[in-house]
Amino acid sequence: MQAGLESLGIAVPPTYVELAELAKARGVAPGKYVDGLGVTRMAVPLVEEDTVTLAARAARMAMEAAGCAPEDVGMLVVGTETAVDHSKPVSSYVQGLLGLPTRCRVFETKHACYGGTAALLLAMDWVRSGSAKGKKALIICSDIARYGVGTPGEPTQGAGAVALLVSDKPKLLAFENGKTGAYAKDVMDFWRPLYSKDAVVDGHYSVQCYLDALEGAYRAYQEASADAREDAGGEGQYSDRFAALVYHVPYGKMSRKAHRHVRTLDGDKEPDASFDRLVGPSLVLPSQVGNIYTGSMYLALASLLSSSREDLTGKQVGLFSYGSGSCAEFFSAVVQPEAQARVKALGLETLLEKRRALSIPEYEAIMAAREKLDDKPAEETPGEGFRYQGTRDHKRIYAR
Ligand code: CAA
Repeated sequence: MQAGLESLGIAVPPTYVELAELAKARGVAPGKYVDGLGVTRMAVPLVEEDTVTLAARAARMAMEAAGCAPEDVGMLVVGTETAVDHSKPVSSYVQGLLGLPTRCRVFETKHACYGGTAALLLAMDWVRSGSAKGKKALIICSDIARYGVGTPGEPTQGAGAVALLVSDKPKLLAFENGKTGAYAKDVMDFWRPLYSKDAVVDGHYSVQCYLDALEGAYRAYQEASADAREDAGGEGQYSDRFAALVYHVPYGKMSRKAHRHVRTLDGDKEPDASFDRLVGPSLVLPSQVGNIYTGSMYLALASLLSSSREDLTGKQVGLFSYGSGSCAEFFSAVVQPEAQARVKALGLETLLEKRRALSIPEYEAIMAAREKLDDKPAEETPGEGFRYQGTRDHKRIYAR
């Protein structure tokens, strides 16, 4: 049985910070953030937004795009590393906000930025095994990436969610059964202690851990996929079989380093030469949003389908997901007819253009306010859509 993405949806905050402005405020050359890290804008969530509201908004877009009714969903998983409760999963709040049925498996997954991928691969097996019985799985990657004001990680923050509707009717991507390579190693490259809102990171070491995991997962993929064996000893670079490569993208430059590494492993003497062709279109949206942790690779995938000028129909795309700590996976999928038209119709670029730039003092005020949000007394907040209103009797309250 085929399994793959039937539709996707994206949610980003309506506000962002221009990284050139942030650089000036921090006394850093703007070129370091914009060219050195490869990020132009970073999304900053308003105080009424959190992992739940972003997830619900992204899910609604994915369901509307596929004409999916709540009762069609038989599994709802939220992958996140910035959950709102130590016990109750983000997915239960989302179930309530979206009115999803009680006959539904609902839970949350965590493994840094890999949590959403773990859920996606599980959902794929659920569909392929026949256990889904025609139902769909809603997999949502939702996070607020936060390192704190004035830290080296500050320009690599962001916020957003990507929802993936998985079914036996893949209209965007069909995932290739068995073609996946995993790599996991216990490392301390990035983590967030229970007592902290901000992530702790050993920045340069985390880059090396990412590249080591990429190498391990890419080699495992090659061994696991049958055509790798068929092609053994063949001509050309292994990664040329992919029409595009989509890497986990905490910041754009990381994708460039990743691609250089893959091509070097392939034996390419000019490992940067194929970057614009194979990776460039996947970075258009991420460069405007920043790191969204679990959703980063999927935002890059949406960017590829939305921005590529090449007809990708029937072509293979390589995907690399990395979660610090660490677990990584290299896997692949085939682009379905009309996938690009369907994603373009979501108007993702326009969605990003409609956002408002925050001044640096406004951004810093929001960062400070978020510190005290979890037990903020609940009050009615003006506006439309899903909003976090505060806490009453230790219960988080949301507006629809
Ligand atoms: N113009 C152009 N480029 C410039 C420049 C200028 N004026 N000044 C510096 N640069 C370049 C540097 O040469 C460097 O490029 P290379 O990496 O190609 O050498 C780049 O800008 C960054 O400079 P530094 O390495 O000096 O920057 P830094 O020490 O301040 O830290 C960082 C960079 C380690 C990525 C830091 O932002 C950080 O810790 N970020 C969070 C961790 C992270 O994202 N890790 C990624 C791997 S882990 C992962 O992927 C999981 C996850 O999502 C967190």
